[in-house]
Amino acid sequence: MSEMKQKGEKISMLTAYDFSLARLVDQAGTDIILVGDSASNVMAGNETTLPITLDQMIYHGASVVKAVNRALVVVDLPFGTYQGNSRAALNSAIRIMKETAADAVKLEGGAEVIKSVKRILTAGIPVMGHLGLMPQSINKYGTYTVRAKEKEEADKLIEDAKLLQDAGCFALVLEKIPAALGAEVSGMLQIPVIGIGAGNGVDGQVLVLHDMLGITQQFSPRFLRRYANLADMVNNAVAHYITDVKSGDFPGKNEQY
Ligand code: KIV
Repeated sequence: MSEMKQKGEKISMLTAYDFSLARLVDQAGTDIILVGDSASNVMAGNETTLPITLDQMIYHGASVVKAVNRALVVVDLPFGTYQGNSRAALNSAIRIMKETAADAVKLEGGAEVIKSVKRILTAGIPVMGHLGLMPQSINKYGTYTVRAKEKEEADKLIEDAKLLQDAGCFALVLEKIPAALGAEVSGMLQIPVIGIGAGNGVDGQVLVLHDMLGITQQFSPRFLRRYANLADMVNNAVAHYITDVKSGDFPGKNEQY
């Protein structure tokens, strides 16, 4: 990934949580597949990412890894599995690597979790950082609005980004921050910075697959570009199927034994 940054080649990253969609995302050529803890919202219908468990992330991670032939697969460490102490963090990361065969883990935070980051790295497990809007800290911030607009928070983000790079993280996600700050951090770091709502001056972009495919409908932040409207396609196909079943048109002569 750092060679891509050096060459100025942008990195594409998308989430996936299951075998079937991960296979399509991989075949289409995505560089990184993130088994995000957004599975908590998208797959399980929770309001936040907090309830998802390590076992559930491992289930999603293992399903994705089985489908992927070429992309790098990164699995999120869920809330409560790495913040407490570095030994617990290492054990959580080892379980993810052993039980999913993923390539790396991602976790949220800077100075507060740096001991955990370092301990995971000592076991040879690659770590991707995540700063800016950190959905696992929603109860601290109380809102999902743009982060680091004020100098104090921007300065802390810059310090945290340096700490994560110096500790040995191979890449960093920046979520929902001003574009100028995204570009500044990307320019300052050697490791690639992948943005979601962090502007165009970073080294790559990530979106939640179900959002960009138009499967989820209520979520419309400014940074989200929808590349399809699968919700309408699914609704139409299901309505058509129901009509055919009710009318007796399905199954036809060639659709039975
Ligand atoms: O969980 C997730 O999907 C993420 C991305 C939004 C970066 O962390």
